[in-house]
Amino acid sequence: MTAEAKQTSGARIVVPVALEGRAYDIHIGRHQFCEAAAMIAGMAPGSKVALVTDDSVAALHAPALETCLQQEGIAFTRIAVPPGEATKSYDRFVALCDALLAARIERDDIVIALGGGVVGDLTGFVAAVLRRGVRFVQIPTTLLAQVDSSVGGKTGINSGHGKNLVGAFHQPALVIADTALLDTLSEREFKAGYAEVVKYGLIDDPAFFDWCEANWTRIIAGGPERDHAVAVACKAKAAIVARDERETGDRALLNLGHTFAHALERLTGYDSTRLVHGEAVAIGLALAFRFSQRLGLCSGQDAIRVSRHLDAVGLPSTLQQVPGGAGSAHEIVAAMGQDKKVRRGVLTFILAHGIGRSFIAHGVAAEEVQAFIESELSANGRAH
Ligand code: GLY
Repeated sequence: MTAEAKQTSGARIVVPVALEGRAYDIHIGRHQFCEAAAMIAGMAPGSKVALVTDDSVAALHAPALETCLQQEGIAFTRIAVPPGEATKSYDRFVALCDALLAARIERDDIVIALGGGVVGDLTGFVAAVLRRGVRFVQIPTTLLAQVDSSVGGKTGINSGHGKNLVGAFHQPALVIADTALLDTLSEREFKAGYAEVVKYGLIDDPAFFDWCEANWTRIIAGGPERDHAVAVACKAKAAIVARDERETGDRALLNLGHTFAHALERLTGYDSTRLVHGEAVAIGLALAFRFSQRLGLCSGQDAIRVSRHLDAVGLPSTLQQVPGGAGSAHEIVAAMGQDKKVRRGVLTFILAHGIGRSFIAHGVAAEEVQAFIESELSANGRAH
């Protein structure tokens, strides 16, 4: 189903991100393109828009958004990049800067990122540095981007040394989480994004985890439960970002499961046919709870409940489920070494005292992690 540009359709949920001088709203609801165009026209009267998207998203959604921009009398140019993680590269960064300069995008103009996390991260980073900073609007088209990467201003590209190692904090001026756009996602991609939804329950909202267990099929089906889930996730993220924009403290909680996940993505060569980010996060969430259990921090019941929910949804929860293998314990720990949560060689993990009771654990010994990974690799993946 392609997205239609409907003027209004159903309820809207607006989540503010309260950052002094850089406050913005996240608008959640179905079929919002023409409302988005009207908001952009109001933000920047008479300005141009550059619509950055990828080739796949362009085919599905760009014409409908462009129709709405035209209706508002906004002059726009479309720039499409190839889909896939490889686009978060130095080469694409340079090419996009030059394309925007060639299109004469100026300080007062607006850059729209229409796409998933790759388009949002690359476009946001370019917007952060182009002419020393231009405003950008996130219109995320994946569940993962709607509940995580489009909110909070983390932008960047990958280096040969690891993911997201080159980037900037640059907050969007507006986020449009049009949940109808998610109707076009494959089941695999939707479920991968769901790992980032359930993460918010596991961090500090046990009632939301209960609700997810009861409602996940309805979130996938696309009813009001989907909008509710996106709104809960965005509210949780907005609250954390408002109190710790630069990740000097609490924002690190959003990395629950991610130290493991980034290592697995690195070891599978960022090959989306093997593992996509959300799948790696799902395994990382289960590992974080089992590691917490091993350290005597969390009950086995809670660790099992996390894995069971991921299994029920159809997400991976063990290292054995990494297609082609995850690598040795030594390789996995070494792959964690480039993570931004590593400070002077000591690992920082997000661990948990239970569901909804996550905390930041500094100075976790690499030997503990290695022994845990070894036990996971030797375990029967379904025996947890
Ligand atoms: N994705 C984690 C964060 O935005 O901090």
